[in-house]
Amino acid sequence: MDVTFLLNGERVELRGVDPTTTALDWLRERRGLTGTKEGCNEGDCGACTVMLRDEGGVRAVNACILFLPQLHGKALRTVEGIAAPDGALHPVQQAMVDHHGSQCGFCTPGFVVSMAVAREQGRRDHDDVLAGNLCRCTGYAPIVKAAEAAAEAPAPGWVVDALPEGCGPAPVAPDSADALAAWYLDNPDATLIAGATDVGLWVTKQLRALPKVAFLHACADLQRIDRQGDRLRIGAGVTVARLRADLAESHPAFAELLRRFASEQVRAAATIGGNIANGSPIGDAPPALIAMGATLHLRRGDERREMPLEDFFLDYGRQDRRPGEFVEAVTIPAAAPNLTCHKLSKRFDQDISAVCGCFDIAVAEGAVIAARVAFGGMAGVPKRAAAVEAALVGAPFTEDGIAPALAAFDRDFTPLTDMRASAAYRLAAARAMLVRTLRARAGETVNLLEIGP
Ligand SMILES: Cc1cc2nc3c(=O)[nH]c(=O)nc-3n(C[C@H](O)[C@H](O)[C@H](O)COP(=O)(O)OP(=O)(O)OC[C@H]3O[C@@H](n4cnc5c(N)ncnc54)[C@H](O)[C@@H]3O)c2cc1C
Ligand code: FES
Ligand code: FES
Repeated sequence: MDVTFLLNGERVELRGVDPTTTALDWLRERRGLTGTKEGCNEGDCGACTVMLRDEGGVRAVNACILFLPQLHGKALRTVEGIAAPDGALHPVQQAMVDHHGSQCGFCTPGFVVSMAVAREQGRRDHDDVLAGNLCRCTGYAPIVKAAEAAAEAPAPGWVVDALPEGCGPAPVAPDSADALAAWYLDNPDATLIAGATDVGLWVTKQLRALPKVAFLHACADLQRIDRQGDRLRIGAGVTVARLRADLAESHPAFAELLRRFASEQVRAAATIGGNIANGSPIGDAPPALIAMGATLHLRRGDERREMPLEDFFLDYGRQDRRPGEFVEAVTIPAAAPNLTCHKLSKRFDQDISAVCGCFDIAVAEGAVIAARVAFGGMAGVPKRAAAVEAALVGAPFTEDGIAPALAAFDRDFTPLTDMRASAAYRLAAARAMLVRTLRARAGETVNLLEIGP
C-alpha cells in the first residue's frame, strides 16, 4: 500500500506499508524522529502529539493511535519541525523556556506541539487544549503561563504547509458512502477504521492483527451535517471536535458534555459513527443522543434501514448490525433546549464515564409534559430509563414531584460494581443527576466549576 504525505515540509512517498503501522512507530523506528515520545501508546498522555494539516485545517492528534494511511495527502509536523529552519525557536518553545515549563522534559515535545497547534488555531482555552497532555513533574501552572504568553506572540509562518499535490487516491479508503457500501458488501469480514481512537488500541495494546481494513476518512459525504426540516442529519464520519463546535449554540448541554469527551487530540480524530458502532456501555454520545430521540441510519449495499438509537444496542458487546452493514448517519432534533447532561468520572478531563446521565425534560405550567432519560454506565448498554420517564410525565417538576421517579431508578437499572464505581454509588449518582437537573432548571448553580471560592 502506498502512502504520500508531507513530513516537516518534505514530501514522503512510502511503498508497500502495512496499513496498521502507527505513525509513532514509523517516525521513531524508521525515521529516527524520536522527539515524538511514546508514553502510554493508547492516546492518554499526549507525549506523542503531532500536528496534522488537511483541507479541514490544522489539529493536534496522537501519533500512537494514528495509522500511516490516515496521513495520505496531508501535512504532518513533529516537534522536530516546530522550530524555524534557521533554528530559531517557535514562540511556544521560547515561552516554555521563559516560564520554566519543563523539568524532566519527557512530556515537553507533546506540550509544545499542542501549544503550536493552538497558536495556529487562535485558541485561548488553554486548559481544554492541554488536557490531553500529561506532565508528571513540572506542574501545569508554568505550562499554562507559557501557553498564555505564546498566544500573544505573532504566528510564525514556517509551520504552515501547503498540502502535497498529485498523491493519488487514498489507500484502502473508499471516497464516498456508495463506494464504501459496495466494498463492504463484498468484504464483510473487514475492519472499518474511522478515527482509530478505539481500533488503534486493538493494535497497540491487544496486539491484534487486522488483515483486512478500510479507512473511512476519505468519505467526504459521511462528514456532512445537514439540516433536514426540524432535524439535523449528522454523518457517521463527523468528528467529536466538529460536533462540539457546530452544536455549541443549538445543543449547548451536548456540546458541553463533548468537552469532557477524552481530550483535544482524541476529539480531533474520534467520530460519532465510531462512538455508536463500538457499542460501548460507557460511550458518552449515545446517552445524550438517545435522550434527544436520535434515529440511527444503517446501510448495507443499497439497502438502508433506520431505528431509534436505543434499539441498536441489543446487549453487552452485541448490536443490531448485520455483516457488511455500517453506520451512515444519526439524526437528532435541530435544537435541544431542554437537554441536560451529567458526566461523572474520576478525573474531570480525559476520563471515561463511571455514569453519564442525560435528561430531555419538557415542563409546562410546572408539570412534566415529556421526558426522555438515558444513561451510560448503568447497564451493559447505553439504556433508556423507561420507569423513570413514566414516573416523571404528568408529575409536578418539584422536589416532591420527582420522588416517585427517584424511586423508579431501581426498576430501570441493576448496575455493576467495577473499578470505576460500585453499584450502590452508581444508583445514588444517577438519582442525584435527576435532582441536579431539577435544581439547575430552577436556576441554582449545580456545576462545581461555576461555584465561586
Ligand atoms: C484516550 C482515550 C480517551 C477516550 N475517552 C472517551 C470518552 O471520554 N468518551 C467516549 O465516549 N469515548 C472515549 N474514547 C473512545 C473513543 O474515542 C470513541 O469511542 C470514539 O468515538 C471512537 O471513534 P473512532 O472514529 O475513533 O472509531 P474507530 O476506532 O475508528 O472505530 C471504533 C469501532 O467502530 C467501528 N466503526 C467506525 N465507524 C463506523 C461506521 N461508520 N460504521 C460501522 N462501524 C464503524 C470500527 O470498526 C470499530 O469497531 C476514548 C479513547 C481514547 C483512546
Ligand atoms: S503515547 Fe500516550 S498518547 Fe500517544
Ligand atoms: S516535565 Fe517531566 S513529565 Fe512533564
